[in-house]
Amino acid sequence: MICRNLSAHRPPVGGHFCWTAGKFLRVVAPLVFLCIHIKKGASVNKNKKTVPMIMERKFSSKKIVALTAYDYSFARLLDTSDLDIILVGDSLAMVSLGLETTLPVTMEEMIIHTRAVNRGCHNALLVADMPFMSYQVSDEQAITNAGRFIQEAGAQAVKLEGGARMAGRIQALTNAEIPVMGHIGLTPQSVNKLGGYRVQGKNYKDARKIKQDARKIQEAGVFAIVLEGIPDDLAGEITQDIKVPTIGIGAGVQCDGQILVLHDLLGLGMDSSPKFVKQYACLGDKVKKAVSSYIQEVRDETFPDEEHSYKSKTHNLKSVSDAPQQ
Ligand code: KIV
Repeated sequence: MICRNLSAHRPPVGGHFCWTAGKFLRVVAPLVFLCIHIKKGASVNKNKKTVPMIMERKFSSKKIVALTAYDYSFARLLDTSDLDIILVGDSLAMVSLGLETTLPVTMEEMIIHTRAVNRGCHNALLVADMPFMSYQVSDEQAITNAGRFIQEAGAQAVKLEGGARMAGRIQALTNAEIPVMGHIGLTPQSVNKLGGYRVQGKNYKDARKIKQDARKIQEAGVFAIVLEGIPDDLAGEITQDIKVPTIGIGAGVQCDGQILVLHDLLGLGMDSSPKFVKQYACLGDKVKKAVSSYIQEVRDETFPDEEHSYKSKTHNLKSVSDAPQQ
C-alpha cells in the first residue's frame, strides 16, 4: 500500500519534464498566486474610512464631517481634505441634472455618478443614495439595487429615506451585509406627501414620531442617521437617545456630525439657498468672471498669446508646402 503511494509520486520514466511542470503548477503556482494576493492586500489604503470607524465617532468628541459629490473632479478635490464621508446624494437630480426635484433621478444615473466619484474617493467613506422607487417596492428590489451600488459602483454603504415604515427594508439590507445610513425628518423624496420642503417635527406629535422613527431604524441596523430639517432641540434629544451617530443638515449643532450639499457650500447654486446653508465661497461669481474674461480675450485676440502657443521648426518657411520632401 505504502509502496503504491510512493510510486504515485515518482516521476514516470522518460517524463521528468512533465512531472516537474505538473509539480510546478500544483505547488509553486498557488504559492505565487498567494504572494501576489497578500501583496495586493497589503496595498489596501489604510486611510480609507470604514463604517465601523464612523460608528465609533459616536463615542468621540470629533464631529463627523460629510459632503455630497457627484463627479470625479470634485471627489478628488474633497478627498485631499480630512472629510469623513462623501455622499453621492440624489440631490444630483437638481444640482447636476437640472431637475425640479430628486424624484426623477434613476438608478442608472446614480450608478454612473457613484462610479465616477469612487474613482476620486480614496480616503472618505463612500455612500450612495438610493433613488426614489429603487427600494420602495420590495426587499428583493432594494437588495438588488443596493447591491449594484456596492458591486458595480464601489460604494461602501447606501442611504435611504424613511423612518419606522422602512425598518423592515433596512433590516433586509443589513442582513444582506449592506450597511445602511438612515435619513429622517424632512425627506425630499416625500415632497408630494409633505406638500413642500418644510421643517418637520415642530409640534410635539410630529417630534415624537421622528424620535420614534430614529429608534426604529436604529433597531433595524442603520450605522448612522441623517436628520434633515428638524428643530435643533429635537435633533439634540434624538442624538442623546440613540447609539448610532446622527448627521445633521438643517438640524442644528447638537448632532454628531454635519452634511451639506457641496454646491451650496461653494456658492455654485443658481437659486437662493435654504436658511441652514452657509456659503463658504462664492465660486459661482468666480466662474462667471473667468468665463467672461475668456470670451473677451478670444474676441480681442489676446488669447491664445505667445505663452500659450506652440512654435513650428519650420518658422523660417512661408508655408509647410515650401518644406523639402523627405
Ligand atoms: O441627496 C442629498 O444630497 C442628501 C443630503 C444632503 C443629506 O440626501
